[in-house]
Amino acid sequence: MAESLAVSGSTRKDQYTSLLPQLKALVEGETDKWAALGNIMSAIKYGMNFFWVGLYVVKNNELVLSSFQGTVACTRIAFGKGVCGHCWKEKKIIIVDNVDLFAGHIACSSESKSEIVLPVFDKKGEVAMVFDVDSEHLAHFSQTDEKYLKEVVLIIEKIINA
Ligand code: SME
Repeated sequence: MAESLAVSGSTRKDQYTSLLPQLKALVEGETDKWAALGNIMSAIKYGMNFFWVGLYVVKNNELVLSSFQGTVACTRIAFGKGVCGHCWKEKKIIIVDNVDLFAGHIACSSESKSEIVLPVFDKKGEVAMVFDVDSEHLAHFSQTDEKYLKEVVLIIEKIINA
């Protein structure tokens, strides 16, 4: 396992390209899924310098806060509520350029201005988790983030469905 990460590149694409192989190496051979998922959250938060990166797990018909890096956050989100609950209900990736313009957005921190939220699926194709990445900048996420964070979701799915 790598002891530290060094992300290089001036564009987001280059940074993800630098980070992803290191991320895979970081979790390779780790059999404890929570240890691996915790490190993934840290690698993305600090490697990409995002405001908040974390997972909400589907438990008893609500989303419950799980591994994350960043400021303290809401612990429970109901089905269909907020950006995360919406992602769960619709089973689709959501990019929010301005959280103040998303009806029902749940503000865990007033510093968070934009976010991208991705569903993580179990073996049956049901949403098992929601992967949430927040920025303190408006419109910080694009199709580039979607493309590479989808690759991160594949790594997460491999871990949780092993
Ligand atoms: N903003 C999210 C809640 C989670 S926090 O941002 C960490 C939402 O509206 O679902």
